Amino acid sequence: MGEETTPMLFPEWVAAQETEPQANAEAQKRAQALRLQLEHHEHLYYVEDKPSISDADYDALLRELKALEAAHPELVTTDSPTQRVGGKPSGSFAKVSHSRPMLSLDNVYSPEELTAWAERTRELAAPLEANFMTELKMDGLSVALRYESTERGDARLAQGLTRGDGQTGEDVTANLRTIRSIPLSIPAGRLKELGLPADFEVRGEAVMSRKAFERLNEEREAEGLELAVNPRNAAAGTLRTKDPAIVHRRQLDFYAYFLLVGGEYWPQGQQATLEALEGLRFKVNPNRRLLCSPEEMTAFIAKAETDRPNLGYEIDGVVFKVDSHATQMKLGSTGRAPRWAIAYKFTAQAGETKLRAITVQVGRTGKLTPVAELEPVFIGGTTVSRATLHNADFIEKLGLKIGDTIKVERGGDVIPKVVEVTASGQGEAFRFPALCPECQSEVVREEGEVDFRCLNADCPAKLRESIYHYCSRQVMNLIGLGEKVIDQLIKDGLIKHLPDLYQITEEQFYSLKAEHEVLNKHTGQPEIREYRMLGGEKLKNLLLSIETSKQAGLDKVLMGLGIRYLGEQNAKLLAAEFGSMEALEAATIEQLQAVEEVGPRIAESIVAFFHEPANRALVEALKKAGVNMTAEKRERGTQLAGITFVLTGTLPNL
Ligand code: IVH
Repeated sequence: MGEETTPMLFPEWVAAQETEPQANAEAQKRAQALRLQLEHHEHLYYVEDKPSISDADYDALLRELKALEAAHPELVTTDSPTQRVGGKPSGSFAKVSHSRPMLSLDNVYSPEELTAWAERTRELAAPLEANFMTELKMDGLSVALRYESTERGDARLAQGLTRGDGQTGEDVTANLRTIRSIPLSIPAGRLKELGLPADFEVRGEAVMSRKAFERLNEEREAEGLELAVNPRNAAAGTLRTKDPAIVHRRQLDFYAYFLLVGGEYWPQGQQATLEALEGLRFKVNPNRRLLCSPEEMTAFIAKAETDRPNLGYEIDGVVFKVDSHATQMKLGSTGRAPRWAIAYKFTAQAGETKLRAITVQVGRTGKLTPVAELEPVFIGGTTVSRATLHNADFIEKLGLKIGDTIKVERGGDVIPKVVEVTASGQGEAFRFPALCPECQSEVVREEGEVDFRCLNADCPAKLRESIYHYCSRQVMNLIGLGEKVIDQLIKDGLIKHLPDLYQITEEQFYSLKAEHEVLNKHTGQPEIREYRMLGGEKLKNLLLSIETSKQAGLDKVLMGLGIRYLGEQNAKLLAAEFGSMEALEAATIEQLQAVEEVGPRIAESIVAFFHEPANRALVEALKKAGVNMTAEKRERGTQLAGITFVLTGTLPNL
């Protein structure tokens, strides 16, 4: 769905408008109808994952509502879909007491412990029954959403809090409002159907999807920022971000699991609660079941572990909650956790293995990254044979030596981590190479930097990595031009510089061959065979995507150039602001910095990039190859276009 980039601004000095009551009634009706439609489509898109209209149609509805609200500012309500990103960046978050403590959960780590817990709980509950509502334990952070009644009896999102210490949370309402799976308002009719008052509270988990997490880290990497370690930390950091516009872009998600009225749990039981939350149009995790026996519970856990890699978001276990509210009341809580619920935590996915060697990789910018080459070890469903060691300091801190036995973990993080040395192999300490492993030129570590770099502009690793980057999904999306094909093109001398990519003929692609090892059917011995890398549909698609990439636009070309610190978002902003590569080449640091979000580091990096004759030649060659380097320029002042400002008082000079 199209991003809503322009928050509506309604300065305090905009006074109430005096319009004909008739026109107002019409506008009000239309605005209400648009809001209902937009809410409906947001629900279909963000909660049900089943959109029924195109992004363009959705945007058209949103634009119409924005224009209407601009012309009739008095019609703007805080729960209007136009106001998701309405909050201003805030200095700090106010501390607010929870209506009821936000407790934690006790953990079990094995089916035996779980069975023992279930039996004990049943005994404590008797004669009341105890069946277990079983849910996934999503790896995010719990938040509380308070809804309050409006004059018309609808419920409106009034406040959103983090868990904090469980007693007191932080008010992050403006940030939570940007999450589109959180309804901003719920119509009175829907509340009535469920027999729910308009003042209530919903608790659940704010999470960052794997996709959003990967996108965030791709952006951070391009901008030279430290990567987020896992989606939970990224979600937590995002919720405490001061600018709601940034939170909106990071696209968090929210899954509801509790409903409270007057600080008490909804008395219908956990299963009915989750259904009621769905009825209120919240997103509720569909992977859930009411279970009785320990066998069923264990089978659910096994299925969750199998499903885990394909879920799209991180989970770290399974939660079991006594379903009946009466039984919950009887069991009560300890200071830390309710006695009627338990978390089965997946055991940390870790393994021990030997460090065979440390190799050093050269990146697109010349950055040298040490990589642990491991004796392959099976951890959490995959074989791990390499792990990043980040930089020289990291290796030193671990005291890592070749031959050591080390512990490797795969948690919520996608990349395996070396956590500690468990046994020394009496090997030698690693010495960071003084020469680039690819081109043998001297490497340098700049003042205040943790990384070593190869400064040779013609280092073959830089060429290879920059071509990988240019062809990647996030940049030109050249389908079929994977790393192996690119390696072969370089090996065969078909690409010496990036623009050569556009000169390769269909025949040359077709004749591209690589070698692989096969077992001879008769002798059973391995043999080296040649195979054709590209042909048929694959080749056709590749040629088509190369041709299409010429029209990808200025922002993609900018990304593709691999300018240090320049990420996707800033490339888009700069392309829209300057409109052409020539304008960007001519821009000064000050002019670049005038673009929102472009800081001095990026601005300086861009100017330095274009200062280099080789880089200007690269741009010219791409242009000559037919790559379009223009973008639709953003009209100045569109932020305020369509908004009517109504002033009170007199303007004696006009
Ligand atoms: S119930 C008082 N249900 O796990 C009950 N928690 O380790 C606590 N979590 O703080 C919450 N998925 O952040 C519950 N389906 C789920 C959950 C869930 C994830 C988190 C939550 C909680 C933590 C406890």
